[in-house]
Amino acid sequence: MRILGIESSCDETAASVVSRATEDGPLRLESTVVASQGDLHAATGGVVPEVAARAHLAALVPVVRRALADAECGWDDLDAIAVTAGPGLPGALLIGFNAARGLAYARDLPLIPVDHIEGHVAANWLPTEAGQTAEVQPELPALALVVSGGHSELLLMEEHGSFQRLGGTRDDAAGEAFDKVARLLDLPYPGGPPISKLAATATVRKTRLPRAWLRGSDDFSFSGLKTAVANLVASPDAPPPAEIAWAFEESVCDVLAKKAARAAEREGVASLLVAGGVAANRRLRERIREESPVPVHIPPPSLCTDNGAMIAAAAFRHLDDAIPAETEIDIFSTAVRKAAVKRAARTA
Ligand code: KG4
Ligand code: ZN
Repeated sequence: MRILGIESSCDETAASVVSRATEDGPLRLESTVVASQGDLHAATGGVVPEVAARAHLAALVPVVRRALADAECGWDDLDAIAVTAGPGLPGALLIGFNAARGLAYARDLPLIPVDHIEGHVAANWLPTEAGQTAEVQPELPALALVVSGGHSELLLMEEHGSFQRLGGTRDDAAGEAFDKVARLLDLPYPGGPPISKLAATATVRKTRLPRAWLRGSDDFSFSGLKTAVANLVASPDAPPPAEIAWAFEESVCDVLAKKAARAAEREGVASLLVAGGVAANRRLRERIREESPVPVHIPPPSLCTDNGAMIAAAAFRHLDDAIPAETEIDIFSTAVRKAAVKRAARTA
């Protein structure tokens, strides 16, 4: 079975072909193509939704064509089209979603709408490179830490395709904190990679920035840390930018690693899965491996940031949710999802 996965929730236009030789067998990554808009948003220091949507429109068809060509796959070789339905930027989501719908309609293929956050977690069932078949299958139940530009969540995954949300950020997502602190340090967007690079050059490593532990809860908070960096940068005796970057990265990674490890222990899970753009961070990968009481799985950096392969991978667990392309269905934005999470917390 072969699935084409399409992703356009934020600032990467991505498509990928993922296959599976047998039911419940390991996934094979046939191709993965990502057109990143990073440079386009560098001048504004963040994603401008309207600019992102227009760029998706221009990139989508070439990206899909390339993903099929790299996989040596024709339209007739596909069994379904999977696409991110949300959460994300509404305008950006609409481009990928409606393109997938149109393609599914034209080729008479079933459409599988996929949750972006579940997609990030599903990247842990993919091999590390195109042309390979996955060798490792994470064991369930698992705890998943999803840390990206839009989300920081701790999810309990007892079985494939179903998640219980244990906690999440109360303000900024971890990646958002990296991006905002990068702006304070005059570093380009997206902020994660340049902060990490600068932090590695710090010669003095003494500054300690605050950590919001929020004890008794699985929630996170990074806005206080961001304010602490802003105050430090503005103070007359500010340490060099490399030391600030280092202290910031240490604070984020310390909180994420310890809170995820403690929750994994408490829930008695068999594995800890890390996913999302921030999971590409070298220091976070190291700290989580140090703290975790159970085996840790983290996709290679190229499959941590947004990609179409993770959307196809998640779709293999939702074959029963496939719908005809003409079904009336809409995308759901990040704002809609956040409101639903708040409602659920109020009624819990
Ligand atoms: O998952 P992703 O590609 O998009 C969203 O779904 O949001 O994550 C993008 C986020 C950005 O905030 C970016 O700064 C962060 O992931 N990121 C990193 C690294 N690479 C990307 N953060 C820290 N260290 C990195 N190496
Ligand atoms: Zn993402």
